[in-house]
Amino acid sequence: MVERANKGKGGLLAILTFEQAVSALLSEQVVALPTETVYGLGGVATSVAAIERIYEVKQRPRDNPLICHCYDATQLLSYVEAVPVYWRHLVAAFSPGPVSYRLALPTGSPLTPALAGQSTVVFRIPDQPLCLEVIRQVNLPVAAPSANTSGKVSPTSAQMVEDDLGARIAGVLDGGPSGYGLESTILDCCEVGHITILRPGAIGPEEIEAVLRQAGLAEITVGYAQGAQLGVVPGSKYRHYAPDKTLLRIKSLATLPEDKPSLVLVTQERADRLIWPVYATPVVLGSRDDLPGVARGLYQQIKALDGLAGEAYYIEEDWGDSSLGRAITNRLQRASVFIR
Ligand code: TXA
Ligand code: MG
Repeated sequence: MVERANKGKGGLLAILTFEQAVSALLSEQVVALPTETVYGLGGVATSVAAIERIYEVKQRPRDNPLICHCYDATQLLSYVEAVPVYWRHLVAAFSPGPVSYRLALPTGSPLTPALAGQSTVVFRIPDQPLCLEVIRQVNLPVAAPSANTSGKVSPTSAQMVEDDLGARIAGVLDGGPSGYGLESTILDCCEVGHITILRPGAIGPEEIEAVLRQAGLAEITVGYAQGAQLGVVPGSKYRHYAPDKTLLRIKSLATLPEDKPSLVLVTQERADRLIWPVYATPVVLGSRDDLPGVARGLYQQIKALDGLAGEAYYIEEDWGDSSLGRAITNRLQRASVFIR
């Protein structure tokens, strides 16, 4: 086991070898696992003890079910009741990858401990070779919500897991920085003729419609969740992705108080274009022309606000209508509170 300096408030976190991660999971412990979206807090989905520990470590409300991870579609299919015809096309196109599917469960499912009473499960096949191999060795679905305290930003590196959870878990399997940096797109696949995007992510309606067209299923419609549909994801009613300090969403620098230091999340373009008063410091999210780069660094930058002196602000930005633009808008809206 490799040890390293404890920089976080949570205490020293063990870096696990692949074998240690597998054996910890098999002995019903919880470990942080790398995925291509964000790090997950993994526990065997059939284990009451492991699931209990995930809720405890995350301080997660008990009515919020856990997303489960499989190593391939065959493993996944052995746990669900039925899938719509379009689902196989989606899986072929997007999995392994940053897309999760909400599917119906058979009664008496062995995944019951992870489901918080739901009759559905949200499944994902992560595109991270180490993580996939861990699930394959464990040979059971691995429940893994993002590896952060409930309400806080999702970690995109082993260091961020340590900073938040410290030594409260058996360890982390370090797979390097997460490639996407935002959580998966969640698709509701419980309807036959319509796919609802329950949580926006890197994959959106354009990409999904293209797959449906290719499969000769153009009559199936795709849309973002609205109104009551948003409640389908129990986690959507909780505050999310926030730094420890309150992040205030504003329209312009004119809103800032002149008598105290301010930290301001902005795009590179805005940072370059605005005249910065001495009391305001830009914290750059990246260029509007590089949304994947903005997504990759987003949580790191939000988290960085906690380590700097000053009140935290985000100047509202129009990130555009692309899948990633909408996902970035969604996370920043939910991380912040609008003041004027
Ligand atoms: O990219 C991701 O999805 C990451 C990585 C680690 O896989 N995981 C992740 O987990 O973001 P979490 O728990 O932070 O977010 C999953 C969301 C939660 O808001 C939860 O309420 C929702 O999925 N969810 C899980 N199971 C569900 C179910 N059966 N029905 C509806 N929503 C569900
Ligand atoms: Mg989360």
